[in-house]
Amino acid sequence: MPFRRLIPWVFALLAQCAWATPDGRALYIQKCAACHEFSGAGGIGLPLNEQKFRDYSDDYLFKTIRLGRPGRIMPAFEEMSDSQVRAIIAFLRERTHTKGRDYDPAPLKGDAARGKALYARHCVACHAADGMGAGKGTGVTLSRKRAFMVMPAAIANPGFQKAATDRMIRQIISVGRESSGMPAWGRQLSQKDIEDLVAYVRVLGSQVPKRPELAADEPPSHVYESPYDFKTTVANVKETLVGNNFRIFPDRYLEQGVADEFEVNTHQIGIRFCNFNELYGMLNIEPRLGVVLPCRITILERPDGKVLLVVPNLRVISRWFNNDQLVDLWDHMEETFNEIIEEATL
Ligand code: HEC
Ligand code: HEC
Repeated sequence: MPFRRLIPWVFALLAQCAWATPDGRALYIQKCAACHEFSGAGGIGLPLNEQKFRDYSDDYLFKTIRLGRPGRIMPAFEEMSDSQVRAIIAFLRERTHTKGRDYDPAPLKGDAARGKALYARHCVACHAADGMGAGKGTGVTLSRKRAFMVMPAAIANPGFQKAATDRMIRQIISVGRESSGMPAWGRQLSQKDIEDLVAYVRVLGSQVPKRPELAADEPPSHVYESPYDFKTTVANVKETLVGNNFRIFPDRYLEQGVADEFEVNTHQIGIRFCNFNELYGMLNIEPRLGVVLPCRITILERPDGKVLLVVPNLRVISRWFNNDQLVDLWDHMEETFNEIIEEATL
C-alpha cells in the first residue's frame, strides 16, 4: 500500500487512542469541581491539595471516589468506569505534582486502650468523641463565625475506614495538615503513641453510631398531583403561601447566583418562598444552602395535561449537610410544606 493511502488510517488510529483515554480534567470539572472547587481549594468538600496528595496512595483515592463517605455529602461514584476514575486521579496527580505513595496494607498492632486516652487528650476537640467531627457541616467553612476553617474530617466514616490503610493513617497523624490546622503530631508524640492512636481510630470506625437509615427508595423530592389545571394550581399555591404569611421571592433574590432552572418553559414554574426568619436562620447555620435553597415548590404540566407539584424531600437534603441544627429546622419546615400542598390542592 502506498504510504499516502496509509495516512488516513494512522489518523483514525490516533483519534481512536485519544478517544479511548478518558479526559480526567473534564471529568473532574463535571463530577468534582462543584464541591472541591476547580483549583482543589475545597468548598463543600475538603481541600484536595499538594500536601495531602503527597501522603495519599492512589489506592486510597480510588476507593474514596468509589465508596464516597456514606451518610455525608461526598457521593459514591459507582457509575464511572475504572479508567475514568483513574483518569481523574491522574489529573489530580499532575496538578498537585505528586506521585502516588504505596503503603504496606498489613495492619499495625497498636494498643487501642492507650490510644483512647491519647485521643481524648489530643484529638477530641476537633474530631469529637465518636470520630465524626466536632465541626458542624463539612468541607471548608464560609462563615466567619465558625471555630474551624476546615471542618475536621469524619475519621470514623466507613468510607474513610475502608479506603485508608493503617500505615497511611499513621502518616497523616504524623505530618498533620498544615493548611487546615491539624497539627503534625510526629513532633510531640512518639511513634508508639501514634500507632496506638491508629488502633483507636479503628475502634471508632467499628463503633459508628448508626443513624436511623432512610429507606433505600426515599426520593430526593416528593411529587403530588394537582386536581386543578396549571394556571389554577399556580394561583392556588401563591395564594396559600401569602395567606400563610410567606413572602414569595422574585426570580433572583440571593446574591449567591442561584441558577434559575425554571427559565423559559411556560408549563413549568418554580415558586420560591420563605419566611424570612426561617431563611436567615438557615443561611446563618449553613451559608452554602443558597445553592440548594429548599423553600421551593415546582409546578409542572406534563404533556398528558396532568399537573404535578414537586417539593424537595428535606429529610434527604438535610443528611447531605451533616448538620443537626438544620435537620431540626427542616423537620419543622417539612410540616409547613405538607400543610401548603394540602391547602393548595384541596
Ligand atoms: C456533593 C459534594 C461532593 C462531590 C460532588 C465530590 N466530593 Fe469529594 N468530598 C466531599 C466532602 C463533603 C468530603 C469530606 C467528607 C467528610 O465530611 O468527612 C469529601 C472528601 C473527599 C476526599 C477525601 C479527602 C481527604 O482529605 O481525605 C477526596 C479524595 C475526594 N472527596 C475526592 C473527590 C473526587 C475526586 C470527586 C469527583 C469524582 C469528588 N470528591 C466529588 C464532597 C464532594
Ligand atoms: C485543631 C483541630 C484538629 C486536631 C486537634 C486534630 N485534627 Fe485531625 N484533622 C483536622 C482537620 C481540619 C482535618 C481535615 C484536614 C483536611 O482535609 O484538610 C483532619 C484530618 C484528619 C485525618 C484524615 C482524615 C481524612 O479524611 O483525610 C486523620 C486520620 C486525623 N485528622 C486524625 C487525627 C488524630 C488521631 C488527632 C489527634 C492526635 C487529630 N487528628 C487531631 C483537625 C484536627
